[in-house]
Amino acid sequence: MEVINDSIYNHPRYYDLVFGADCAAETRFIGEVNQKYLNNRATRLFEPACGTGRLMFSLAKRGFEVEGIDLNPKAIEFSNRRSDRHGYPQTAFVADMASFRAKRKWDLAFNTVNSFRHLTDTASTLSHLQCMAEQTKRGGIYLIGFHLTPQTVEPTDWESWSARRGNLSVITKMWTIDRSPRERLETFGMHFDVYTPTRLFRISDELRMRSYTSLQFASLIKKSGRWEIVGTYDFTYDINQPITVDPSSEDVVYILKKKQN
Ligand SMILES: C[S@@+](CC[C@H](N)C(=O)[O-])C[C@H]1O[C@@H](n2cnc3c(N)ncnc32)[C@H](O)[C@@H]1O
Repeated sequence: MEVINDSIYNHPRYYDLVFGADCAAETRFIGEVNQKYLNNRATRLFEPACGTGRLMFSLAKRGFEVEGIDLNPKAIEFSNRRSDRHGYPQTAFVADMASFRAKRKWDLAFNTVNSFRHLTDTASTLSHLQCMAEQTKRGGIYLIGFHLTPQTVEPTDWESWSARRGNLSVITKMWTIDRSPRERLETFGMHFDVYTPTRLFRISDELRMRSYTSLQFASLIKKSGRWEIVGTYDFTYDINQPITVDPSSEDVVYILKKKQN
């Protein structure tokens, strides 16, 4: 098979298909978070690390104004082109979520599927949380979904799933290459096997992410001084089923509220 060694984020068409499966549940959940924690007052939303804008697009269709940033220009171009094609404004732009300036403040921000873990050191995560707080309206909400490192059970080391649209299908595999708890870094292998009627090829990548136990995340939030944890859920995205985070927890969606200070 032909193998292309490249960042999966440089291939937005395939990324968008592969990560599209949970889009409906995530979008519904963000709407329910708005209802439960903000009494439905959020009209402006923001997504750091928005990638292809799959969630931004889905939320724009629900009537929200959504702005997003990402480091990857190809993902941003894909997002803006899709918005434009469907008559929505092009509101995604290239920026680093560690430090950026958006056009206007928002009521609710969301950061799903481990993107937050791309910030690999304490300084950049604290800078991100500070930057987010400065641009979130009073009492606003920031939803962050990612995998914790469980302490009492073995972490999931391997995942594979497939997605199909028309003649295009992509089989994805993701696995752990290395865990360095002391440095709090994890390295993952990831590949997309892409099948089209005329071509079969693999995009092969390695991703580095910061690791968090529940205590490390709670301590980061406390250290930021700008946010408090007001709710915890898992990747079933069920607003009626909050979870209690404990040392066995792995997939968690934290709901943070901006502190009044
Ligand atoms: C797993 S994807 C998630 C994309 C999108 N949030 C979604 O739900 O589909 C992670 C994204 O984070 C972006 N990213 C990584 N580091 C970043 C940074 N420092 N600032 C902004 N974006 C970043 C990558 O380019 C990639 O598009």
